[in-house]
Amino acid sequence: MTGVDPDAGQFGLPRPGDRRPRRLRSTPALRRLVAETTLQARQLIQPLFVAEGLAHPKPVASMPGVVQHSLASLPEAVNAAADAGVGGVMLFAVPTTKDGQGTAATDPGGILNVALRHANAAAAGRLVVMSDLCLDEFTDHGHCGVLRTDQAEPKVDNDATLLRYQAMALAQAAAGSQVLGLSGMMDGQVLATRTALDQAGYQDVVLLAYAAKYASAWYGPFRDAVGSELDGDRRTYQQDPANRREARVEAGLDEAEGADVLMVKPAMGYLDVLADIADTSDLPVWAYQVSGEYAAIEATAAAGWLDRDQLVPETLLGIRRAGAAAILTYWATEFAPRFG
Ligand code: PBG
Repeated sequence: MTGVDPDAGQFGLPRPGDRRPRRLRSTPALRRLVAETTLQARQLIQPLFVAEGLAHPKPVASMPGVVQHSLASLPEAVNAAADAGVGGVMLFAVPTTKDGQGTAATDPGGILNVALRHANAAAAGRLVVMSDLCLDEFTDHGHCGVLRTDQAEPKVDNDATLLRYQAMALAQAAAGSQVLGLSGMMDGQVLATRTALDQAGYQDVVLLAYAAKYASAWYGPFRDAVGSELDGDRRTYQQDPANRREARVEAGLDEAEGADVLMVKPAMGYLDVLADIADTSDLPVWAYQVSGEYAAIEATAAAGWLDRDQLVPETLLGIRRAGAAAILTYWATEFAPRFG
């Protein structure tokens, strides 16, 4: 007898459970081929700050590498984002005068509305120009809405704030914002702004609803960046970090009210919430990797304790993997070219 006796067992018997997932990781080409999650430049959105009355860009101390732009430097930043392939920019503005109603927010000559015009001109259709729709940068008390002062404790007046948001929506739409970022966490804000926009003929303006926005310490550096006057906290309108199910309620309401895109914020500490909403809604779901997430990584990388070049893409991939179709991140312009 010659040859191999298939029954002789010289190859060993296949052992049930002897699976080797490492096989698919053995070469860079194989790993590239089987990667489940992708990151592309178009999926990144760059938040930009612009401050009234600045002659030159001004660094934000707690966010190394981030500046408050002047009206003159803003177009360069928009241009750089577009050249890097970034999908959009989200504008936040800091007025020189603040008051109880946040008047500068609805003034067509207010800094955010003027900045929108400049940004649109610079973008020339290469990326989407978006604006934050909230009152906190514009109020002298720093809250996201107007206050009711007829009680012992001043309280943010939900429905009076909706009227201000409607006026803001119209001012921003008139200034050319294509996407309004509703970040104030007032009940009914999506329906209120949608109604005002539609009645004024702005049916095509997109509503990005911060569906699940938590009262988070991760926003610390942002408050620096916009010179926030807030004394206290936002726990009567932003969500309790203890709550996961409630985020689905918020998302459902925003969807029913006519939101076009849903957002979860912050990102890295709320990936469970992001995954839930991405699973339960058919709308695009975005995430905001906020100022504190940026600052924490920049500071530890500056100390030499973490490798930012590896870590930043890893965090973005994690946010994508959890279900975000796009990510607002302060690293957008810098890292976009790496993702093509
Ligand atoms: C409200 C707003 C905030 C952020 C975005 N929109 C601040 C807040 O709710 O206190 C935070 C963004 C960040 O931390 O990067 N206009």
